[in-house]
Amino acid sequence: MHLSSRFRLFICAAAAVAVPTLAAGTNDFACTSTTHPNPVVLLHGLLANAEDSWTPFQQYLQDRGYCSFATTYGASDILPFIGGPKPIEDSAKEIAAYIREVKEKTGAKIDLVGHSEGGFQSLYVPKFEEGISEMVDKIVAMAPPTNGTDNFGIYDLTFILGDTSRELFGDVLDTVGCDACNDLIIGGPAVEQLNDGTPIVQPGNVMTVIATHFDEIVTPPEVAFVHEHGVTNEWVQDTCPQDSVGHISLIFDQNVWNLVTNALESTPDREFTCVTDLLII
Ligand SMILES: *[C@@H]1O[C@H](CO)[C@@H](O)[C@H](O)[C@H]1NC(C)=O
Repeated sequence: MHLSSRFRLFICAAAAVAVPTLAAGTNDFACTSTTHPNPVVLLHGLLANAEDSWTPFQQYLQDRGYCSFATTYGASDILPFIGGPKPIEDSAKEIAAYIREVKEKTGAKIDLVGHSEGGFQSLYVPKFEEGISEMVDKIVAMAPPTNGTDNFGIYDLTFILGDTSRELFGDVLDTVGCDACNDLIIGGPAVEQLNDGTPIVQPGNVMTVIATHFDEIVTPPEVAFVHEHGVTNEWVQDTCPQDSVGHISLIFDQNVWNLVTNALESTPDREFTCVTDLLII
């Protein structure tokens, strides 16, 4: 199977759970919070965008008194709502520019929360983009392909999502290309760069990695974890054993939202009631 056809599935999965608009009051540079002074910058996954990925979570964060910001990065000019296919290092520059903008306009340290490719970027950007790690406090990465994904198991999504959407998104990828896809497989250029033998976690940054046993895209799912001193690596199922969330739906899963805010609030042991639902992709 060719790489491009594999990654058709990324986008149709994203489209299947699309949500149309951003929560009011988010992405507001005038936002200040006494309870959560660090603004949260959210980084979406491959072939997703800020609105579809983050609207529900931004609403949740807003309800908890956070200021949050999300932007679509790494999109081609012809398809600006499909983020992330550009090479990882090009997207990293866009993300760094956005972090600098949020830093300049809010003045506070920034917490990064990323999903999938965005999770990878939440590790990569502070390591490789000048001056960013100093602006960042906490990093929470959901299912980042830290050590590369072999995509084993991704074919299962075919049955869930159907062939029509697969072909449609395959056409999209043929049009814009997907350098990031190549970057994020095992042994891909960006994966090699991130794992170059020097630490991923930069001084002053506090990192949490959250993964699900039922990930069908970043596989095997434990490639997400960062094996460095001080990093919290956790499975969703450590806290919520009944949660069978898959890769895409991590961003829509209330249990995961609680795990993320526990990491952001340095309250890893705060208990919450696990919900069970049908977020299986
Ligand atoms: C990362 O992947 C490489 C290549 O598959 C492997 O040799 C290495 O052991 C992996 N590292 C970790 C920490 O899993």
